[in-house]
Amino acid sequence: MGICSLPNIVPAAAGLICTATNHSTFTFMLNPLIHPTAVIDAGAQIGEGTRIWHFCHVMPKAVIGSDCNIGQNVFVDNNASVGNGVKIQNNVSVYNGVVLEDGVFVGPSAVFTNVINPRSFIERKTEYKKILVKKGATIGANATIVCGISIGEYALIGAGAVVTKDVPAYGLMMGNPARQKGWISEQGYTLQFDENDKAVCPGDAATYQLKDNMVHKIS
Ligand SMILES: CC(C)(COP(=O)(O)OP(=O)(O)OC[C@H]1O[C@@H](n2cnc3c(N)ncnc32)[C@H](O)[C@@H]1OP(=O)(O)O)[C@@H](O)C(=O)NCCC(=O)NCCS
Repeated sequence: MGICSLPNIVPAAAGLICTATNHSTFTFMLNPLIHPTAVIDAGAQIGEGTRIWHFCHVMPKAVIGSDCNIGQNVFVDNNASVGNGVKIQNNVSVYNGVVLEDGVFVGPSAVFTNVINPRSFIERKTEYKKILVKKGATIGANATIVCGISIGEYALIGAGAVVTKDVPAYGLMMGNPARQKGWISEQGYTLQFDENDKAVCPGDAATYQLKDNMVHKIS
């Protein structure tokens, strides 16, 4: 899969929100690109400039913003919300109750959950717990996010981590269970704090302040 394989992509018809009941007659918000093998259920909202690749399934009450890239074999459930500029790599299910804010990156085969104590013989659809992934955060490949938590702005979850608790903004998490190993900048560089608890990002020279175990970008 890649942006270069545009001949395999069909531009959806220009229009507003999809309202039709079968794949061939959908109308979408202006100019999302939907691969012909993707199934987009009637009622799903998909923003302008979003690309949805092979074998995806978007449910009727799913909302996906503009300029997203939804990789191969991604499922977006009813009442899942994907912001603008979100990248979801292959083989991810964004379940009911998951909110991905603008600019979130979800690595390949990352896992979201929405029931804390599932049993096949007990219906728990009224007990879904939410997951909020805030603006600009990254979830590494094959990480698992246990439900009922939020991941702060620009936090980074390492590959294979199992996140069981809230993550602070700019937090760098690794392991199972995930533990905070440090802080990370908006550009994705580990922050080294000086004696004044200030750090400069080597990527864009932005300055960060550590105070009361929270990090803020100050310039
Ligand atoms: C978490 C991450 C950002 C750390 O990168 P880093 O700061 O450069 O870390 P380093 O490679 O210097 O490793 C530092 C230590 O953490 C360990 N470590 C690194 N990544 C780890 C991870 N995901 N889980 C557990 N431990 C990890 C290293 O083994 C090393 O341990 P050591 O000090 O005992 O040798 C990176 O390893 C990672 O997981 N990135 C996500 C990649 C990904 O999923 N991309 C998806 C798109 S392809």
